[in-house]
Amino acid sequence: MKGFVVLLITVAFFDASTGEPSPEIIPVEGGLSGDGITTRYWDCCKPSCGWADLVNNTRFKTPVHTCAIDGIEIIDPQQQSGCADVGAAYTCSNQQPFVVNSTLAYGFSAVSFTGGEDYHMCCSCMLLNFQGQLSGKKMLVQITNTGSPLAVNQFDIELPGGGVGIYPHGCMKQWNASETGWGDTFGGVHSDAECSELPAVLQPGCHFRFQFMEGVSNPPVTFQQVQCPRELVAITGCEY
Ligand SMILES: *[C@@H]1O[C@H](CO)[C@@H](O)[C@H](O)[C@H]1NC(C)=O
Ligand SMILES: *[C@@H]1O[C@H](CO)[C@@H](O)[C@H](O)[C@H]1NC(C)=O
Ligand SMILES: *[C@@H]1O[C@H](CO)[C@@H](O)[C@H](O)[C@H]1NC(C)=O
Repeated sequence: MKGFVVLLITVAFFDASTGEPSPEIIPVEGGLSGDGITTRYWDCCKPSCGWADLVNNTRFKTPVHTCAIDGIEIIDPQQQSGCADVGAAYTCSNQQPFVVNSTLAYGFSAVSFTGGEDYHMCCSCMLLNFQGQLSGKKMLVQITNTGSPLAVNQFDIELPGGGVGIYPHGCMKQWNASETGWGDTFGGVHSDAECSELPAVLQPGCHFRFQFMEGVSNPPVTFQQVQCPRELVAITGCEY
C-alpha cells in the first residue's frame, strides 16, 4: 500500500515531456507581484524573520529557525544574532538554494517591498522569474530576512559565498572566514573553483550560483507571490 501511494505522488510531480520533477506552483490570489532586482549574500547571521518577538506583529506563527554555531542545531529564537558581540545564533546551513529541475530552484531570500525593514511578508514565498541572460529559469524563495539597506522590491538571495556584506562578524565567528568573508565583501567569490574556500557544507549553495545561475550576477526578476512548498517550510519551520 505504501509503495502504491509513493508511485502516485511521483507520477503527479513529473513533467511528461521533459521527464523532470515538476511540482505544482500555486499563485496566491491577490498576492504581491511586480518587477524586482536581485543581489546576493551569505553573512551567517541570524535572519531577522527569526526573532521570536516579531511573532505577535506578523502573520507567521513561529519564527524562522536559527542555528547554533555548528549550523545544524536549532536554538532558542530569543538568542541574539552571532553577528552581535554576545550573540550565538547563526544561519542554519540548510537554508541554502537547491535545484528542483533544470529550470526551477528553491531557496531563501531577504527582501523589502517597501524599502528598508519590512517584516510583514516574512515567511511568505515568491516565485522569481529571472529576466535577461537567465530568462527561462525560475527560483521560488521563502522570505527569511529583511533589513534597512534594502531598496523597494530588492531580493537579496541567500547564496553561500555571495558576500558577507555589512555584517562580516558572523562568518568569522562561525567558520573562521576572513574579515571580508570569502571573496569580496559585496559579491563574494569570483568563480566556481573559489567555492572550495567555503566549508564543505556550504559549497553546494556556492556552486549553485555558477551552475544553475550560470554565473549571471544579480539578474533582474519579475515576481509573484505563491504558496510555500512544504519542503521550504520544513527547513525554516516558518509558515506564512
Ligand atoms: C520544472 O518545474 C516547473 C514547475 O512545475 C515546471 O513548470 C517546469 O516545466 C519544469 N522544468 C522542466 C525542465 O521540466
Ligand atoms: C504574544 O502574545 C501572546 C498572547 O497575548 C503572549 O502570551 C506572548 O507572550 C506574546 N509573545 C511575545 C514574544 O511577545
Ligand atoms: C576555528 O578556529 C578555532 C581556533 O583555531 C578552532 O578551534 C575551530 O575549530 C575553527 N572552526 C572551524 C569551523 O573551522
